[in-house]
Amino acid sequence: MTTLDVEPSGQACGATVRGVDLTKPLSDDAVGDIRAAWLAHKVLAFPDQPMSNQDLERFTLNFGPFGNDPFFAAIDGHPNIAAIRRTENETSALFAENWHADWSFQEFPPDGTCLHGRLIPPVGGDTLFTNQQAALAAMPADLRAKIDDIVVVHSARGGYAPDGSYGEDDAADRSMTIVPSDEAYATQTHSLIRTHPETGAETLYSVLGYIIGIEGMSDDEARPLLAEVYQWQIRQEFQYCHKWEADMLVMWDNRCVLHRATGGYEGHERLLHRTTIGYNPTVRA
Ligand code: SIN
Repeated sequence: MTTLDVEPSGQACGATVRGVDLTKPLSDDAVGDIRAAWLAHKVLAFPDQPMSNQDLERFTLNFGPFGNDPFFAAIDGHPNIAAIRRTENETSALFAENWHADWSFQEFPPDGTCLHGRLIPPVGGDTLFTNQQAALAAMPADLRAKIDDIVVVHSARGGYAPDGSYGEDDAADRSMTIVPSDEAYATQTHSLIRTHPETGAETLYSVLGYIIGIEGMSDDEARPLLAEVYQWQIRQEFQYCHKWEADMLVMWDNRCVLHRATGGYEGHERLLHRTTIGYNPTVRA
C-alpha cells in the first residue's frame, strides 16, 4: 500500500496523481498502485515531476519494454526518447492533430505512451483523449452489429510515407525530426473490437486515419462505415481534455484511448519528451 492520491478528472477518463516522486526509483508497491490507477483511469497526469531524461526512461521501464518508435529521430544520447517540439513561429501543420492510437499499424503496437512537459505554452496546446471502452459500451446496437467481427487494415502511409502529410512536401520549418520512409506503406490488420489484455474489457481499437480499410470489403463500402464509427468514437461525452503544466508527466493506455494534439499557442514554444511503453508479453501471460 502506498500513499498515492488519485483524483479523477470528472470527465470520461483521466486522473491526476500526487503523493509519489517520479524522480526517484519506485517501489514494487508504488508501480503496482500506479498500474492499477492507469488501468482504471486510462490517462494519468502527475504534476510537479521535474524529471530528467533518465528518470523518464526509468519510469517507462516500470510498465514494459520500450516501444519501437519508427519515423522519428530520437534525442541525442537517448534512443528511446523523442522530442515533440514546436517553435514559436513554426508554420508546419500541427503534429499529431488527428485522432490516433500510437503506432496502431504495428504488429505489436505499444501498450502505452509517456509524455513529459518541458516547455508548456501559457495558452492552448491541450491534448485530447477519448475513452474507447466507453464509446463501445454506449454504441447503438445497429452500429455495433455492423462492426462486431470486422478486421481492419492499418497503415502509416497517410502520415509517414514520402507522399504522406509529414513526407517530402512537409513544411521546411518543422522543428521535429520526422523521418518519412517507404516502410510506411506496409499494412497490418487488427480486429476493430479488441479485449483489453489486462482489464478484460472490450474496447474499440484505433481509428480512421491509421485505419485505411476493412478486410474483405471494398473501399466504397468500408469508407462510409469507418467514417460512421469515427464520428461515434470522438463524441464529446467520451472525451477528456488534458491541460499541461511544465514538469508534468502523463501516461496513457493506447489499448483503450485515442488522443490528438491541439494548437492555439502561436507565438509560444512547446516541448515535450516522449517514450512509448512497448507491447508487454508478461501482462498477457
Ligand atoms: C502525441 O501524439 O504524441 C503528441 C500529443 C501532443 O502533442 O499533445
